[in-house]
Amino acid sequence: MKTYKIAAIPGDGIGGEVISAGVEVLHALASRDGKFSFSVDEFDWGGEYYKKHGRMMPENGRDLIRDHDAILFGSAGHPEIPDHITLWGLRLAICQPFDQYANVRPTRILPGITSPLRRVDGPELDWVIVRENSEGEYAGVGGRAHQGHPIEVATDVAMFTRTGVERIIRFAFRLAQSRPRKHLTVVTKSNAQRHAMVMWDEVATQVAAEFPDVTWDKMLVDAMTVRMVMKPESLDTIVATNLHADILSDLAAALAGSLGIAPTANLNPERAYPSMFEPIHGSAFDIIGKGIANPVGTFWSSVMMLDHLGEKPAANRLMAAIERVTGDRRFHTPDLGGTARTADVTAGVIDAIHGANA
Ligand code: IPM
Ligand code: MG
Repeated sequence: MKTYKIAAIPGDGIGGEVISAGVEVLHALASRDGKFSFSVDEFDWGGEYYKKHGRMMPENGRDLIRDHDAILFGSAGHPEIPDHITLWGLRLAICQPFDQYANVRPTRILPGITSPLRRVDGPELDWVIVRENSEGEYAGVGGRAHQGHPIEVATDVAMFTRTGVERIIRFAFRLAQSRPRKHLTVVTKSNAQRHAMVMWDEVATQVAAEFPDVTWDKMLVDAMTVRMVMKPESLDTIVATNLHADILSDLAAALAGSLGIAPTANLNPERAYPSMFEPIHGSAFDIIGKGIANPVGTFWSSVMMLDHLGEKPAANRLMAAIERVTGDRRFHTPDLGGTARTADVTAGVIDAIHGANA
């Protein structure tokens, strides 16, 4: 029997609550299937660790998770620690050295969930956003000088390499090709940003030639927000830079009904390093410890993890269980307007996995 080694990093805020729900569901799936199991190692990295040790993860942290099959991540963000420290000290300290350059964010309106868009209740909104996850505006290049003086200067340089752009656009074309509509929208801001974004457009045109069966179009990021709201059915697969896709994916999650549901995969497609799976909702300190965090984002991220591990039937079973549960308002947590608790949703999904409420 195959045993998958999973590194669980709950992180901060509600991360602990949703990751323990996720791990429970993974074990339930394994026992239902009987063909594989999970061995989960938990790492207590994050804000509390920082308060004790002055860093978000140990210096050899990456060595400790390097040989795991996948990483399940909760969230990073702590009210007492500046956001750029929690981000660069943990999430980016894993994503960038592990070359998880493809950040994949599917968005759909799940059964029972209401979109804030009128007349949109399902098939009209079915997207996957591919976010460049290794460079661009998150390259970390820049600096500050003369701090506190009137002549203070600060720069954040967005850095794009042809290799980086080419590999993410090729990844997106391949993903678009695997989906029924075979359509890709390439998002840039190549009217105002006249160097790197123009290179994106050129690379897109070159890579497109390798995918004659995929139709594609280009959008400027500002106009893209309008198209997402006004013509959601015209979109399918979307590729954008690190920052543009960060913003568009929050909009996408909101249009699909709740940030509490949206999943992410940080993929190293070449599998030289483990990939990392996480809900996009963040640490949500306002509801910490109340037992009402929506675990669906973590469950859906676990579907993406199972897919990546090659356990397609289990991935499909979990997705079906999630949809059965979101379709039943009794299992809606407060972010969806309900009164269910994390434990209720988890129990509902586990029952569905075992076919109890089929
Ligand atoms: C995301 C988040 C992060 C990001 C934050 C928490 C730094 O917004 O995953 O979309 O900007 O990458
Ligand atoms: Mg974001």
